[in-house]
Amino acid sequence: MFEQAGPLNLNKDMDESRQGEVFFQEAPVRDGHQRSFYIESYGCQMNFSDSEIVASILGEVGFQPTREMETADLILVNTCSIREKAEETVRKRLQVFNKQKRQRPDLMIGVLGCMAERLKAKFLEEEKLVDMVVGPDAYRDLPKLLANAEEGEKGVNVFLSREETYADISPLRLDSNGVTAFISIMRGCDNMCSFCVVPYTRGRERSRNAFSIVSEAQDLFDRGYREVTLLGQNVDSYKWENPETKEVVNFAQLLEMTALVHPDLRIRFSTSHPKDITDEVLYTMARYENICNYIHLPVQSGNSRILELMNRTYDREWYMDRVRAIYRIIPDCAISSDIITGFCTETEEEHQESLSMIEFANYSMSYMFAYSERPGTPAAKKYADDVPEEVKKRRLDEVIRLQTQIAYRHNKADIGKTFKVLIEGDSKRSELEFKGRNSQNKMIVFPKKPGLRPGDYVMIRITEATSATLRGKIETGD
Ligand code: SAH
Ligand code: SF4
Ligand code: F3S
Repeated sequence: MFEQAGPLNLNKDMDESRQGEVFFQEAPVRDGHQRSFYIESYGCQMNFSDSEIVASILGEVGFQPTREMETADLILVNTCSIREKAEETVRKRLQVFNKQKRQRPDLMIGVLGCMAERLKAKFLEEEKLVDMVVGPDAYRDLPKLLANAEEGEKGVNVFLSREETYADISPLRLDSNGVTAFISIMRGCDNMCSFCVVPYTRGRERSRNAFSIVSEAQDLFDRGYREVTLLGQNVDSYKWENPETKEVVNFAQLLEMTALVHPDLRIRFSTSHPKDITDEVLYTMARYENICNYIHLPVQSGNSRILELMNRTYDREWYMDRVRAIYRIIPDCAISSDIITGFCTETEEEHQESLSMIEFANYSMSYMFAYSERPGTPAAKKYADDVPEEVKKRRLDEVIRLQTQIAYRHNKADIGKTFKVLIEGDSKRSELEFKGRNSQNKMIVFPKKPGLRPGDYVMIRITEATSATLRGKIETGD
């Protein structure tokens, strides 16, 4: 579920009519001045989704989102700790924000998210110009921390909760195309993958009220959205008990409940864990046309010994069995993955098994990383980070090269096929073209036709493919 690391540019894709939804809300004005906040998000989709909860909480106390860092009263950065590089990126951005603060001492700066949680009060010592350090479960406390910061009092709240799911908060959609949205269905993670910092930065796993999820999906559909992605670190372990009836909703049932909101609302989800994804989930996907035929199923390594050291709790055979089950139950399903190269003690032969897994699983794409030791994780405590940096990088290059070839082969096989595509907006390159995705999550670019708009479904016949994109034409039926 790791996505891009980059600034969240507010509303850059919105048309004028939608911008109004975000910018022109009634809000208290202070000293004749409408207060605003500027936010950048890094890391996974979960962080981007959290920023929308933060935006909603700040809206309640009169802060409106802005794209202009230079005029904002408050700058927030929602941070990621997953790899060392993610933290370095944030430090660099803080230098830019600090420069602003030196010019405008009234400006407030807040650090949110996983790095805030990992470093806690230490952050205030290291970064003298930061006013607030707020962990992922403490966003309701932002108004109070802000009020204190305005009085010159710095604040830290990194309390991790066993219950907080922000279920009652209606996220303020940032950077939205008006067609696709994230819905957070659970928080935290109870797996203890030895390389991973997430259990420490996000706390214990907890599932959100199923009815609040369904009503958020319904609300999005009513406002014109046509695709929702259900988010969690391990969606397959979603489990919510209705406090009144004591009935338990599992992930397969939640998928079905959201699919029933409307046949024109597409459902996606991320991330699945190979140890937990059940046949019941796969059969539910097969039963509903609007549950997309795409599964992000991170393997991390193709070798059983490394998987054990990683504490992934499955081995190569188990993973291969899950892949076979997916292709058996949902024949046109696309599978993608996350792969780490150069984990502690990984040998050349073991690395070869990651390569052969890419081939076996026929991934449509993967996110690929060189292992980065994270302080405090079980791997950092127990194993030596003994694969030289250049070997990690070389293995990473090999993994990327093979995955690019497999993705190209995967995409080439689509030439001549026709897919139902949900239009998301203009293509990056041209206003004369639309972009959208098929059920398998592949981006498809095609020439526009009058009358079609983002949010519409259209049948596209594929004519060209690269390793990253498909191109096609609207199917006219003749
Ligand atoms: N919950 C998801 C992963 C979230 S983190 C899952 O279980 O798959 C996203 C990805 O970052 C992971 O899948 C992993 O491939 C990568 N990652 C996590 N920790 C890492 C580390 N220490 N070094 C390199 N990559 C890491
Ligand atoms: Fe990290 Fe593993 Fe949890 Fe994913 S499942 S967030 S990799 S501990
Ligand atoms: Fe996500 Fe990074 Fe935190 S990947 S959960 S933002 S450490």
